Amino acid sequence: MDKLKNIAVLSSGGDAPGMNAAIRAVVRDAVNNGIGVKGVLRGFNGLIENDLIDMTKNSVSNIVNVGGTILYTARSKMFMTDEGRKMAYQNCLKNNIDAIVIIGGDGSFRGALELSKLGMNVIGIPATIDLDIACTEYTIGFDTAINTAMEGIDRIRDTSTSHVRCSIVEVMGRNAGYIALYTGISTGAEEILIPERKESAMIASIITRLKIAMKKGKRHYIIVNAEGVGNSYELAKELEKETGIETRATVLGYLQRGGSPSCRDRVLASMMGVSSVNALMSGKRNRIIVVKNGMIKDIDIEEGLNMKKNDIDEFVNTTFGVESK
Ligand code: F6P
Repeated sequence: MDKLKNIAVLSSGGDAPGMNAAIRAVVRDAVNNGIGVKGVLRGFNGLIENDLIDMTKNSVSNIVNVGGTILYTARSKMFMTDEGRKMAYQNCLKNNIDAIVIIGGDGSFRGALELSKLGMNVIGIPATIDLDIACTEYTIGFDTAINTAMEGIDRIRDTSTSHVRCSIVEVMGRNAGYIALYTGISTGAEEILIPERKESAMIASIITRLKIAMKKGKRHYIIVNAEGVGNSYELAKELEKETGIETRATVLGYLQRGGSPSCRDRVLASMMGVSSVNALMSGKRNRIIVVKNGMIKDIDIEEGLNMKKNDIDEFVNTTFGVESK
C-alpha cells in the first residue's frame, strides 16, 4: 500500500449543522499524521472546476461551533454527467489527491460511488438534517435541527393555546418523516403527518379528530406536517372551512438547517471526521462512516447505498424501546 500523502475534503448536498466540526476533525487529524489536506469549494462543482484550497490546522480554527459549512456546498448537476465526473477525477490526479472525504447525504454518496469507479478512493461522512441514510443510525445535523424545530413548535403552541386555535407546523423532510416524528413526539402534538404514511394525512379523519378534540375542551390542536406530505397553507384553509375552527399554518423552513450545532452533533461529527482519516490510514477504500448499534464503524459504500431504510414502524419501535414483533 502506498503511503497516503494528500487527501481532499468537501461538503455536498443540503448543509447541516456540524459539517464544520467534521471538516475540522478531518483536517486536524490528517495534518497531525503528516497528510496534506485540500478543501474543495462548493461540493463536486469545485472538483470539476478545480476550485481547491490548502487547508492547515489554523484554517479550521473557530468553526466547531459554527453552522453551515466553510467549504460551501452545492447539488452539482454537472457531476451527474460522465463528462463532469471525468473532469473531477482528472483534477484529483492533477492535485495529487489520494482520497476524498465527502461530507453529505445519500445523493452525495451516490456521486462518490461513481467517482470511485473511475479509481478515486472515497470516504463518506453522513450529514443531513433529514436522517434519511439507510446504513447509519445517525446523520450529522439531525439533532440540532430537531431541537430548533422543537423550540419553534413550543412557541407556536403558546400562541395557539391563547387563541384556542388549530396550528399546522411544517417541518423539513421531503421524503422522510424523522424530523416530524421526533418534534411531534417531543412537543406533544395531536397529529404527526409523515410522507412514509400517506394515510396519516387523510383529511376526513383529521377533521373528525380535530372536532372531537376541541369539543372535549382542548385549547389547541398541533399538527406537525413533514414538507413532503403536502401544502400546509392549503390544509389549514380546508380544516378551517370544514370545522369552523380557526387554523393557522407556519412553515419553519430553512431556519431548521442553520444555527450553531448541538453538543451531540459536534461530538459525533468530530468522531466521524477522525474515523474517516483512520480508515484511510489503515488502507481502507470506498467506505461510509456509520453509527451502528451506537458504535462508529465503516462499511463498504456500495453495500451501504444498497440498504433500505427500515420500515418506519420498526424505526419507531426500536427508537422508543418497544420490541418489534
Ligand atoms: O437538507 C435536507 C432538506 O432540508 C430537505 O428536508 C429538503 O427537502 C431539502 O433539503 C430542501 O433543500 P434545498 O431547498 O436546499 O434544495
